[in-house]
Amino acid sequence: MITRRQATGSMLAGVALSMSSTEGGATEPVQLPAAARSGGMPLMSALAARHSTREYSDRALSPQTLGELLWAAFGINRPSGERTAPYWRHVMVIDVYLAMADGVWLYEPQTHVLRPYLPHDLRAQTGMQEFVATVPLNLVYVAHGERMQDISAEERRLYASVDAAFIGQNVYLYCASVGLGSVFRGAVDARRLGELLKLPEGQFVTFAQSIGYPRA
Ligand SMILES: Cc1cc2nc3c(=O)[nH]c(=O)nc-3n(C[C@H](O)[C@H](O)[C@H](O)COP(=O)(O)O)c2cc1C
Repeated sequence: MITRRQATGSMLAGVALSMSSTEGGATEPVQLPAAARSGGMPLMSALAARHSTREYSDRALSPQTLGELLWAAFGINRPSGERTAPYWRHVMVIDVYLAMADGVWLYEPQTHVLRPYLPHDLRAQTGMQEFVATVPLNLVYVAHGERMQDISAEERRLYASVDAAFIGQNVYLYCASVGLGSVFRGAVDARRLGELLKLPEGQFVTFAQSIGYPRA
């Protein structure tokens, strides 16, 4: 539960969050604005517009946009706590981390809050392409392999990747619908990124996804 003081601070942090400053690090949770559950671009139009983007402007994402994006990605869409993306065998294995200029954050769908995770700018380490270092947001899809029981390591990778890909497609469609650019990325040094993220035993990086406004 977040206090009113935290919520106010959080909104301010949310504004800072949308800036590209590399000063300071994330220290307070950020309560994201609730996402509208209606409206937006028709699905068929979003599908018609979906594509990958690899050239970005440095225009920041507003807290409202970030809230909508994360809810679309893997937010809770039913009272039961189920999500906007399907997932393997009803076992929730994917965490969505955000690598931004002001640090690394962890999205908490239950409260629609961003938790500060690391106070460092790790964007450059989320991929092998140049734009990842400066794009406002890189999502990193981390799997809890330890929750996937009774299957081989290979199957763990497979199902975790499918879970991540569904989230990635939600992100693509949301981005297409609001004029954001995005690219789902497998070119990631997953082992190294896992170390930098200090992931506990069993957890592993699957894919990353960059998001920002396309360069004009
Ligand atoms: C599993 C997977 C991994 C991908 N990895 C990368 C990547 O590392 N870097 C990149 O720029 N694009 C990556 N992409 C995006 C594809 O290159 C892109 O979707 C494809 O070329 C088709 O282009 P479109 O998305 O514009 O339709 C990946 C896509 C998928 C599905």
